[in-house]
Amino acid sequence: MSVHAERDQTAVSILDVLGAKGKRKLAVLTAYDFSGAVLAERSGADVLLVGDSLGMVMLGRKDTMSVTLDEMIHHCRAVLQGSRRCLVIGDMPFMTYERGVDEALSSAARLCREGGVRAVKLEGGRQVLPQVRALVEAGIPVCGHIGLLPQRAAALGGFKVQARTAESAYVLLQDALALQEAGCFVLVMEAVPAPVAARITARLRIPTIGIGAGPDCDGQVLVYHDVLGLYSEFVPKFVKQYLQGGELIGRALEQYVLEVGKGTFPGPEHSFSIKDEELKKLDQLLEGSPAASA
Ligand code: KIV
Repeated sequence: MSVHAERDQTAVSILDVLGAKGKRKLAVLTAYDFSGAVLAERSGADVLLVGDSLGMVMLGRKDTMSVTLDEMIHHCRAVLQGSRRCLVIGDMPFMTYERGVDEALSSAARLCREGGVRAVKLEGGRQVLPQVRALVEAGIPVCGHIGLLPQRAAALGGFKVQARTAESAYVLLQDALALQEAGCFVLVMEAVPAPVAARITARLRIPTIGIGAGPDCDGQVLVYHDVLGLYSEFVPKFVKQYLQGGELIGRALEQYVLEVGKGTFPGPEHSFSIKDEELKKLDQLLEGSPAASA
């Protein structure tokens, strides 16, 4: 059975993403489930990224490293049910592609065939070029991810801004160019100084999607829960919360608990009725039943 909702006539393609470079900014949101995907798609976003950030914002873990391929597939399927128009990209989780081309191919194949995504994202620069080339050759579109690599946060000494020296910025540019040559159709750049991201963006044919990489990238991505103020464990400087969703939802839930306690919920408008004659018959039956005398 297909995991896709029926695709829209105006569905965003890889070529649409590539063609946006220099013409219009691309808006990308993460999505992890059906309801979130429906809302994110309605916003007009071009791309939904089923990010392994789900390990933190959906599963409550301290980082993304323990997210499994099965968990990714589970969430990708849910997102695909809620998306008809957006291009949906699925993240390759930690240690599902690093060990080589065969592992990368079989992991990406599962994300596409079982998860239903149209493209995959993997983290890293020149060290993942063989994997990128193999995936692209196999017909799987690849989104690169450079700068801060959350899957390597432990090795990088935490969630830190990258490319703050001329040398490291130059290395980042070389990584970006190499990923482009290997066949990536788009590149996420995370936590990179804005002027560095601008210079890299200007030197690439493919679009860059920034997260903490300033305004000159070809598009932006934010985590759904960050946009809506639903995740307060860690709010990076680059996050703009467009809603204090945690507070709003918290107040609504408190009101529900209060009304249940007071007995004012459910009211008549939330209850089902039964015809008077049926109720009368029921009461007669109850009168004659042993439970009536209990
Ligand atoms: O996992 C994720 O959600 C990501 C984006 C924030 C770029 O990689």
